[in-house]
Amino acid sequence: MNLILMGLPGAGKGTQAERIVEKYGLPHISTGDMFRQAIKDETGLGLEAKRYMDKGELVPDEVTVGIVNERLAKDDCKEGFLLDGFPRTVAQAESLERILADTGRRIDAVLYIKMDQSKLMARLTGRRICSQCGATYHLVFNPPAKEGVCDKCGGDLHQRPDDKEETVTARLEVNAKQQQPLLDFYSHQGCLQEIDGDRDIEDVFESIETILGSLNV
Ligand code: AP5
Ligand code: MG
Repeated sequence: MNLILMGLPGAGKGTQAERIVEKYGLPHISTGDMFRQAIKDETGLGLEAKRYMDKGELVPDEVTVGIVNERLAKDDCKEGFLLDGFPRTVAQAESLERILADTGRRIDAVLYIKMDQSKLMARLTGRRICSQCGATYHLVFNPPAKEGVCDKCGGDLHQRPDDKEETVTARLEVNAKQQQPLLDFYSHQGCLQEIDGDRDIEDVFESIETILGSLNV
């Protein structure tokens, strides 16, 4: 299965990706995670991406498409993949079409987690991430058993630098502007699947399982 997870910042892409990857064994390709890793490793890509991410802006298309192209060429993507947070512009979606067509592949489903923008500030400012395994928590909606400690690996939980209120406001604005044309693009292709993201995490996942179970792939 070749899948895309779409949704505004905080809609639950990463949270659902953890579950999809566990159940279906697909490689998880999150452009945000790739940029954060590059920042941690202090590479040239990391330095460039940081300039945009700190302001809540999108990293330029050519940079983002380049890293996805390289990643999709790896062997573990031959049997399928889960893209999270890519594409985010129509130009990125068109580049993705070309990359996949060159290797005889196509997207099977775009899972769009729909959330009202007004509810996302609380989700993002309350988010905490495990420094070791990357698992996602929320102070209120999905707290760890022990405060500040990852249930899965015992690692420390931290806040993403772009989850401060000022940056979240910019991210929501930038992403909301790009989202509709992208939804139109995939709706036109007939592969868009809309999921109500304003429910319990496990209920959202159940809807995703139903959709994936009905795909003819
Ligand atoms: P990225 O890391 O992709 O961030 P994002 O799109 O802003 O999305 P988030 O990761 O913040 O949200 P999410 O939907 O994964 O939510 P989560 O599951 O964590 O990108 C970061 C930056 O990198 C971008 O701003 C940009 O600069 C750059 N970038 C990345 N991709 C790019 C691209 N293609 N082009 C250009 N630039 C790019 O959940 C959020 C919180 O809510 C958590 O605390 C979670 O526990 C909680 N939660 C989740 N689901 C529920 C639920 N159902 N009920 C209650 N709480 C829930
Ligand atoms: Mg995410």
